[in-house]
Amino acid sequence: MSEAAQKRWFRPVTGADVERDGHRFSWMKPDGWRSGFRALVLEIEGAAGDRCVIGVGRIGPNTVHPTRDLVELEIDAAHRRRGHGTALLRELGTYSANPLSSKVELGSEREAFLRSLGAVTYLRVPLLRVDVAAERTVRWCAAVRAEVPHAEVRRWSELPREQVIDALTDCYAWQHASWSPTAPRDVLRREVGDEFWDGAIREHSWAVRRDGAITALADLYDDPVGPGREGALEAVDAAMPHARADVALALAALLDDLREQGVAHLDLDNHPTDPHTAPLLATLRADEVDPVDLVEIPNGLTARLRELP
Ligand SMILES: CC(C)(COP(=O)(O)OP(=O)(O)OC[C@H]1O[C@@H](n2cnc3c(N)ncnc32)[C@H](O)[C@@H]1OP(=O)(O)O)[C@@H](O)C(=O)NCCC(=O)NCCS
Repeated sequence: MSEAAQKRWFRPVTGADVERDGHRFSWMKPDGWRSGFRALVLEIEGAAGDRCVIGVGRIGPNTVHPTRDLVELEIDAAHRRRGHGTALLRELGTYSANPLSSKVELGSEREAFLRSLGAVTYLRVPLLRVDVAAERTVRWCAAVRAEVPHAEVRRWSELPREQVIDALTDCYAWQHASWSPTAPRDVLRREVGDEFWDGAIREHSWAVRRDGAITALADLYDDPVGPGREGALEAVDAAMPHARADVALALAALLDDLREQGVAHLDLDNHPTDPHTAPLLATLRADEVDPVDLVEIPNGLTARLRELP
């Protein structure tokens, strides 16, 4: 049957769908499983004239970044490249007026599919890999401590939880402001502050303080573990005169601490837009690995403008 003649039906996912077809898709939950989200199945006519489910997708708001909605879909492998993914994404898009967002690995099928729908990159984010044990890294850390005017350098586990969460929240808000605006501070603090606090190894994450206020944070994530670790780094107020120096101090503390634990490399998932971390990591000759693109998929106004003849 030609693609144009292929009849498709869309409807909310039910509990019976999940029981019958859940094993065929990496994600399938009944519609309404989460407030504000829709979950749909895509059906086509089966060989016996019955309807069979060949795709599932979901759409819903992003609590932390309200300007773009979240979308995810999967088409059964036996039914790909026949326009079903495009049709399901367009149907999901009718439940939102916002553009949609996703994260793609370069060269992946997800990227090819979303680009075919007009997806544009709003930020490319490589992991920046630092060789923790390298002789030059050791000298870099010593040079930072020799150069930077004294400040208090503390493990998160030595500081009040609320103070660290406030600092994480401030940092997150300005880091994303220009390219992925955030929700109001109380929402951000609840969603992001707690998540970063809970997901950090607090005994090995570091904060720099001046006059009792946190000025820079170096966060060691609890995953992965082993010789390669991941983390993030930035100033709490990037415009402060000592922000650059304090970010360097926080990073030096983190690197020295990791070296003592026998860690070989640290990957930082910062953004190229971060004004202090990116230039500091360049001085450490960090390698760029596994870049991902954050992409916006037209929907609502941008989808209508895309269709303009
Ligand atoms: C990505 C996915 C949803 C695409 O579904 P689909 O039904 O095959 O998509 P479509 O037939 O509508 O493809 C539309 C266009 O996307 C591009 N595309 C899709 N899959 C592609 C692939 N594997 N390689 C290259 N281009 C691809 C093509 O340009 C295609 O048009 P064409 O077939 O005329 O060349 C499906 O492969 C899938 O479920 N993958 C696993 C989960 C996933 O990556 N989901 C992405 C969620 S955003």
